[in-house]
Amino acid sequence: MSGLVIAVDGPAASGKSTLASRLAADLGLHFLDTGLIYRAVGARVLGEGGDPDDAADAQVAAEGLAETDLARPDLHTPEVSQAASKVAAHQDVRGVLLDYQRRFAAREPGAVLAGRDIGTVVCADARRKIFVTASVEERARRRFEELRRREAGVIYDTVLQDLRERDRRDQSRAVAPLKPAADAYVLDTTAMDTEMAFEAARAFVIGNT
Ligand code: DC
Repeated sequence: MSGLVIAVDGPAASGKSTLASRLAADLGLHFLDTGLIYRAVGARVLGEGGDPDDAADAQVAAEGLAETDLARPDLHTPEVSQAASKVAAHQDVRGVLLDYQRRFAAREPGAVLAGRDIGTVVCADARRKIFVTASVEERARRRFEELRRREAGVIYDTVLQDLRERDRRDQSRAVAPLKPAADAYVLDTTAMDTEMAFEAARAFVIGNT
């Protein structure tokens, strides 16, 4: 028998990873941020001087992915964020990464996976599915505050534009586009703080278990 699988999807900077990781800790489940895998592939392509839009370059990087790549310090730079979104549009890249994600999801006693297509593709039969979202302006504001604490000279409009671009690419790609699964609980956190969002997600999971 497989354990409890919870799919947490949503657009960039929606807070889904923070929420999913808290849920996993609260429920004693494993946690995987699948965005990190795409980021690692994007970082590898850039590191090898390749083009993230090129399917062959991206596939070579995906096939060569090692566990240590997930701990690279550069996974959250704007360049790697865009490269991740680009490599994620290639069908062969997604195919290579699917197996790893499904094996992770099958771990006992269960797992919480955060991403874009967990509820629709990777774990389409997950017992619980949550789609975390917020307005793009609010997501940009949160990301801007977070970046500003780490570095100087961050510009809100640039952050907003970066998110819009990734939203557009992630939603319009032909393979596994970002969208809520038909049976997902849509959690709009635009007017919520992290605590309220966590409580709402937890109530949904517990209430339905
Ligand atoms: O969640 P994130 O922002 O760290 O993800 C980075 C990119 O990876 C995102 O723009 C799209 C891609 N991605 C994906 O296509 N499917 C997933 N399950 C997770 C991420």
